[in-house]
Amino acid sequence: MARCHSLVAVSILLVALVPATSMAKEFIVGDDAGWTIGFNYQAWAQGKEFRVGDTLVFKYPEGAHNVYKVNGSDFQACTPPSDSIPLTSGNDHILLATAGRKWYLCGVGEHCEIGGQKLVITVQPQLQSEAPSLAPSPWSQSMNAYYSNSVEKMSSIPAMAVASLAATLVTLTF
Ligand SMILES: *[C@@H]1O[C@H](CO)[C@@H](O)[C@H](O)[C@H]1NC(C)=O
Repeated sequence: MARCHSLVAVSILLVALVPATSMAKEFIVGDDAGWTIGFNYQAWAQGKEFRVGDTLVFKYPEGAHNVYKVNGSDFQACTPPSDSIPLTSGNDHILLATAGRKWYLCGVGEHCEIGGQKLVITVQPQLQSEAPSLAPSPWSQSMNAYYSNSVEKMSSIPAMAVASLAATLVTLTF
């Protein structure tokens, strides 16, 4: 009986943690196409809601492209600032730390001018309800939050692991 109660307690704790860990989304820029030339990044960004705390991931074969964060005028002109260093790993994670308009472009060759390899997004402030909270929340609410996030492919692996562990524990317990 004591073991049963502790399982319930652990499950509730894990479930309560899921919303806090799965709220921040990760956007793979261009989805399966990744960061490349000849892709319409404005169409890709349209309808997506970017928020403070979310992450952009630029994926490309290392050496083929790069990522510069630029301002609006450099974006229009496709000119990366000479005094800034681009990201070049091919798996570049950019945390959206502040709200507002953000511009990115590839500085290789004429990938920006001719290839259209540029992205502009508007980052919204974090929602009040998305602030991390450890308060227990009902199971259904947590799972709804979890699944609606995973539909957008944005849940982190840890959140997924926590959720499946919680689901397993709940199954064992009830
Ligand atoms: C944008 O950045 C460039 C440097 O790369 C600078 O010369 C220019 O004044 C900036 N423009 C604005 C509007 O801030």
